[in-house]
Amino acid sequence: MRTQVAIIGAGPAGLLLSHILHQRGIASVVLETRSRAAIQATIRAGVLEQGTVDLMNEIGAGARLQREGFVHEGIILRFDGRDRRIDFRELTGGKAIMVYAQHEVISDLVAARLAVDGDIRFEVNEVSVHRIDTPSPSVHFLDPAGAAVELAADFVVGCDGTQGVSRGCIPANVRKRYDRVYPFGWLGILCKAPPSSHELIYALHERGFSLVSTRSPELQRMYLQCDPQEKIESWSDDRIWAELRARLATHDGWAPKEGEIISKVIVGMRSFVSQPMQHGRLFLAGDSAHVVPPTGAKGLNLAAADVRVLARALAEFYLNNRTDLLDRYTATALRRVWKAQRFSWWMTSMLHRFPEADDFHHQIQIAELDYVTSSRAGSTTLAENYVGLPFEAPEN
Ligand code: FAD
Ligand code: PHB
Repeated sequence: MRTQVAIIGAGPAGLLLSHILHQRGIASVVLETRSRAAIQATIRAGVLEQGTVDLMNEIGAGARLQREGFVHEGIILRFDGRDRRIDFRELTGGKAIMVYAQHEVISDLVAARLAVDGDIRFEVNEVSVHRIDTPSPSVHFLDPAGAAVELAADFVVGCDGTQGVSRGCIPANVRKRYDRVYPFGWLGILCKAPPSSHELIYALHERGFSLVSTRSPELQRMYLQCDPQEKIESWSDDRIWAELRARLATHDGWAPKEGEIISKVIVGMRSFVSQPMQHGRLFLAGDSAHVVPPTGAKGLNLAAADVRVLARALAEFYLNNRTDLLDRYTATALRRVWKAQRFSWWMTSMLHRFPEADDFHHQIQIAELDYVTSSRAGSTTLAENYVGLPFEAPEN
C-alpha cells in the first residue's frame, strides 16, 4: 500500500493535516489505534482561538461550529472574592475565542474526511515507523483483523499525542527534552445544569484554583485544582460542589449552579517540549512534540498551528518543488510553541496554589492579578496571548 503522506494519529492534528492536504491535492492515510466512537467521545479541550476557527472554516469543516459554538469576548479573573474582566475585543482590536468541545471538532473532521472518501484506518495495532533517513519511509501496522500491512509514503507525520510512537523514532542523540511536572492536577467535571456564567471564570483561592467553563445551555464543564495522585473515588459529588462553592465564593454571594455530575476525571499537569520536531522524512505535530498545562487553553490550538505550518511546507514541496519550508519547519513551529509554553506556564503559576507556597506567595499572586487586570498593558498581554498570537512568516 502506498500514499504520499502517512499520518499517525486521528486527533485534531492528524485529521486537520489530512484534510488540508486533500484540499491541496495531496493524498494521505491516517492510522489510529482507537475506534471512531472512542475518539469522538473523549472529553478534552473546549477553547478555540480565532485562527483555529478560521482553519476549520477554510477547509469546509466549520459549519456546525459556526452554528453551535459560543463566541466569548472576554474572561473573568476572580481573586480576593471579586471579579475583574479581561475584554478581548477591546484589547486585541476585535478578536474573540470560541467555546466548542474538542470531541465535536473531531466528529466534524472525521465527517469531512469520510465525505470525500478520506482514508482513516481505525483500530490498528503495533504501529512502527521505518526508513525515515531515506526518501521512501514506511509505516508498518496490524489491521483490525490482525493482518500485517506496510504503508509506503514520501513523508511520515507523527500526530500521535504524548503516548505515541513517533517521537521516539528521532534518534536520542539529536533529541532534547524540556520538561516540567507540576505538583497538582485538575479534576474536571461535566454536569447537567444551566450556565453559571456567560464567560469563563478563572479563580485563585487559598484552597486552590478552579475554573468555570461551559459546553451548551444544558451542560457545564468545571475544573478544580487537586492532588494528581488522589483517586477519583475520593471525590464524591458533595465534596466537589462544596469545594467549588468555597473556591468560587465572592463578596456578593455568587455560587455555581449545581446539577447531576455525569463525568469526572483527574488529569496531571505538565509543560513539555521535544525538539527538533523533524528528522529525515519524519515530522511531529501537536502533543507528540509538546504539551502545555491546560490553564492557557492552548494545546489544541498549538496542534492546529503546527499543522498549518507543516501543510504549507508539504504543499510547497509537492506543488513547487521547494524543500526550504520543510527544512525550516522545526524553527518556524517552535517560535510559536515556546511562546505558548511561556503563556501557559505563567497562567498556571499565577492561578494555582503551590504546595510549598506560604501566605507571602499568595499575596504576591493576588498583587500580580491585581496588576494584570488594572493595567492596560498587563490586560493586553493576557488578552493577546489568550486569543492567539498572529501567525508569523517562516524563519529565514
Ligand atoms: P491527541 O488529541 O492526543 O491525538 C493523538 C491521537 O493519536 C489519539 O487519537 C491517539 O489515540 C492516537 N494514537 C496514539 N498513539 C498511537 C499510535 N501508536 N498509533 C496510532 N495512533 C495513535 N487544548 C486547548 O487548546 N484548549 C483547551 O481548552 C484545552 N483543554 C484541555 C483540557 C484537558 C482536561 C486536557 C487533558 C487537555 C486540554 N487541552 C486543551 C489540550 C488538547 O486536548 C490537546 O493538546 C490536543 O488533543 C492535542 O491534539 P493532538 O492531535 O496533537 O493529540
Ligand atoms: C474547557 O472548557 O475544557 C477549558 C476551558 C479553558 C481552559 C481549559 C479547559 O483553560
